[in-house]
Amino acid sequence: MTHQESGYFTEATSAEVVIARNARAQDERLKAVMDVITRKLHEAVKEIEPTEEEWFKAIMFLTNTGHMCNEWRQEFILLSDVLGVSMLVDAINNRKPSGASESTVLGPFHVADAPELPMGADICLDAKGEPMRVRGRILDTAGNPIASAKIDVWQANDEGFYDVQQKGIQPDFNLRGVFRSNPDGSYWFRGVKPKFYPIPDDGPVGKLLGALGRHPYRPAHLHYIVEAEGYDRLVTHIFDPDDPYITSDAVFGVKESLLAKFVPVSDPAEVATAGFDGPFLDVAFDFVLSRKG
Ligand code: BEZ
Ligand code: FE
Repeated sequence: MTHQESGYFTEATSAEVVIARNARAQDERLKAVMDVITRKLHEAVKEIEPTEEEWFKAIMFLTNTGHMCNEWRQEFILLSDVLGVSMLVDAINNRKPSGASESTVLGPFHVADAPELPMGADICLDAKGEPMRVRGRILDTAGNPIASAKIDVWQANDEGFYDVQQKGIQPDFNLRGVFRSNPDGSYWFRGVKPKFYPIPDDGPVGKLLGALGRHPYRPAHLHYIVEAEGYDRLVTHIFDPDDPYITSDAVFGVKESLLAKFVPVSDPAEVATAGFDGPFLDVAFDFVLSRKG
């Protein structure tokens, strides 16, 4: 057998010839993946019919995307995000039973070692922004409370920046914390109203968005990872439905079930009962976890 088992490469047979060449691959999954990618990529190139200059531009775009990556910046993940692929992979891998809370992208600003805080703690360490109370319950799909669930939250500040983007300006661990749900599944903490913000757009992905006439903004949100023994880990956000970018998230992370009302509270009696000094925003949101398996 020669290595030209399926004939010479022609425009018409290009994908089949390349796929046939992989026949002796050791890893079946790799072969299956590369077969699909080869077929779809050749199909795209045949439809687009790029000039050689255009193809080189594409190669340089990917080269620059790689050059932009470092310990803190993963430009390929941003590319996957703005192409909707991150959300698609998330959807495929987090199909939930009915009633369970939906997931969304993790994003690049999670910090693994945020401090565990007592219930009701204020995660805003610099007193900047509009005070907010966030509360709710962690439940199973039958509506039973889940006690001692780990609730890891993080959010941007009132100017749309995470602490890790403003080292030396914001205190370390500003607007992030880990809480454990009460025996009745409840949790609450204080923060400040987050603002919409642009995904990092000073690299090739930002340039691409600009060229496509797209903005780089994500609507205001709070990130959550909720974990409990025997349940699937939930990586999600809650979103401000009144945000100007709520229907045009740059990374397609918004789901209708994740919209949470930010309700202004100014009645002095209610303010005093909640333990605030003045008006605040009240955000109530329950999370429903699905059982493992
Ligand atoms: C975030 O929400 O933190 C985020 C998600 C995707 C890309 C950039 C930021
Ligand atoms: Fe975010």
